[in-house]
Amino acid sequence: MQSRMGAILCNLCNEENIFIFIAVAMSDVYSPPERVAVESHCRGMETYKAMYKESVEEPHKFWGRIAEQFFWKKPLPTDLNDFMKYNFNVTEGPIKIEWMSGAQTNICYNALDRNVENGLGDRVAFYWVGNNPEDKGQITYSELLADVCKFSNALENIGVKKGDRVAIYMPMITELVVAMLACARIGAVHSIVFGGYSADSLATRICDAGAKILISADGVYRGTKMIKLLEIAVSAMEKSAEQGQEVTHHVCVSHIPRITGSDAEQQKNEETIARVWNDKRDLWWHEVMRDSSTEHECAWMDAEDPLFMLYTSGSTGKPKGVLHSTAGYLLYAATTFKYSFDHQPANDVYWCTADIGWITGHSYVTYGPLLNAATSVLFEGTPFHPTHKRCWEIVNEYRVSKFYTAPTAIRALMKFGDDQTKDYDLSCLKVLGTVGEPINPEAWQWYHKIVGNSQCSISDTYWQTETGGHIITPLPGATPTKPGSACFPFFGVVPEILDEEGKVIEGEGEGYIVFKQPWPGIMRTVYGDHDRFEKTYFSKFPGYYMSGDGAKRDKDGYIWITGRIDDMLNCSGHLMSTAQIESVLVEHPDVAESAVVPIPHNIKGEALYCFVTLNQNAEFTQELVTKLRNMIREKIAPFASPDFIQEAPGLPKTRSGKIMRRVLKKIANDDKDLGDISTMADSSVVDVLVEKRREMMEKK
Ligand code: WTA
Repeated sequence: MQSRMGAILCNLCNEENIFIFIAVAMSDVYSPPERVAVESHCRGMETYKAMYKESVEEPHKFWGRIAEQFFWKKPLPTDLNDFMKYNFNVTEGPIKIEWMSGAQTNICYNALDRNVENGLGDRVAFYWVGNNPEDKGQITYSELLADVCKFSNALENIGVKKGDRVAIYMPMITELVVAMLACARIGAVHSIVFGGYSADSLATRICDAGAKILISADGVYRGTKMIKLLEIAVSAMEKSAEQGQEVTHHVCVSHIPRITGSDAEQQKNEETIARVWNDKRDLWWHEVMRDSSTEHECAWMDAEDPLFMLYTSGSTGKPKGVLHSTAGYLLYAATTFKYSFDHQPANDVYWCTADIGWITGHSYVTYGPLLNAATSVLFEGTPFHPTHKRCWEIVNEYRVSKFYTAPTAIRALMKFGDDQTKDYDLSCLKVLGTVGEPINPEAWQWYHKIVGNSQCSISDTYWQTETGGHIITPLPGATPTKPGSACFPFFGVVPEILDEEGKVIEGEGEGYIVFKQPWPGIMRTVYGDHDRFEKTYFSKFPGYYMSGDGAKRDKDGYIWITGRIDDMLNCSGHLMSTAQIESVLVEHPDVAESAVVPIPHNIKGEALYCFVTLNQNAEFTQELVTKLRNMIREKIAPFASPDFIQEAPGLPKTRSGKIMRRVLKKIANDDKDLGDISTMADSSVVDVLVEKRREMMEKK
């Protein structure tokens, strides 16, 4: 409910990071709905404030209490100083983060065995909903445990050991969850690559991780289109072998024959299998599972043993293998899930639309929900197939109470109008989450009013692959929300806003958002490159983890994420580096140089705008543009396809030769006010670029 007046709590931080709450009048603030607040794990700002204070001042107490709810093979450290050990200051030695060192556990055991032992074996873990509405299934906690044990045995049979990296390239099917949990169970490090990535991208990741095992599926439908995952996986294995990284075993799920599709596609799938299958390397999932035992003793992992790695774009272009470790990630995924969505195990049906190939799927499709014994929807399809009402159909059918999606999906759905939900009973919804990019207030309000019927809490969760879980987020039963603001820090998280010189901005202001101390779920290193970890996140502002995002704090203490401040762009919630796209463009023999900038897009959030400078004698043609676009699709992924590719006879550069992206951004956005261009070596290039842009737009 919206309270336009009245006393609302506002927080400010003093030097000791203790909240001082003062009453102020605010507008456009939405109080937690009573129906959510009454059952909430954290009701009201006073409770949040007290819990937050303990979490940052006495982390061992706060997290220790939570940790006791899980199973530890070797107990938690009794010495308080051993509970959280860290160095965030590069000038004082290597960056180090350790939580609960000395303890031993297994995250799979806590997600499955523990729940089954607690009598929840018959509870549905996932309702699987296929791309085609006719395809559906479900799996209980005990069934999931049995499958995970079988696959753990199968992995061990093919020689996978603790610490080995296993690459996974699969659609949203229950076998994906089984595969990742089996890795965790035996202590192998999973490296999941989103099923929309190209063979080149998959190969790069296989090589960087040194993975000898790959798990995939034959294919999947996205809408009406069949994606031949097996063909891409085989091509990636060939490419990685050329680079010296041999995949010795590849396990493939036979998915296409068991789902609804056309005979012609079925035929094509069989032909592909016949063409690419290699008996020495490739194994069918159902065959390795057939004789495998449902009994499996899990490997006990040290608290800081690696759990998984997941690649995220790096501003230099080379993706970074973000490494998460066992015990801290376990606590953080479980706790953020419980509080940010106010999970009620007895009544909730939860649905996160993210693909498991992204961090959101790791923390909030698999680990967070299972650690809380949740019942979730696992959705293979897209919100637009067969119609744009698919989400509302699913919410209605499964009585989803907590729903989590991305602003780009909300904006795309908004286009279909306000009456799209009217044929469905969505009164089951209580919490609506969003993630991936800043949500514009208009989309926030539509989500709240049209989807939530003004009866739901909105959780705008700000976080990153690196952070493991939510770091700035409202809590549904506690936080009065403002549309577009991620509100306040989660437990254990201490944000600061710094100016360019690294000076702390107190109160109202805008700058770099950084973090002062570790929470359990923060990444531990970049796989194989600790130096890059330190340089990327800790060197600009010694003493802080730097996220790369900008943020402002308003007069009431609310945090508003303003977006990336580095050379990254966020297209439909997919983070990409401009350097990564540029390096593909310059691979074309006609292209001498390129520069990529983001431009605002009303659905994707940001779209790619590319400037390319050609070699002498090369001609800028429509064919070249198509070729360049296809190269990006093939070398990175279809979702990275640029909206604009424009010719740039010259690029604006400083006298030292640095490309002035700030100026290019303005040109791409048709902004006439170019700001200070006194440092530009040759300002005449600007007029040419403006003219070329006009020509390109006229042709469109
Ligand atoms: C952006 C996704 C504003 C941000 C979980 C961050 C957001 C990047 C939000 C991480 C949000 C994510 N509000 N911006 N609620 N959530 N971002 O690693 O720029 O794929 O740094 O993790 O997405 O993207 P990543």
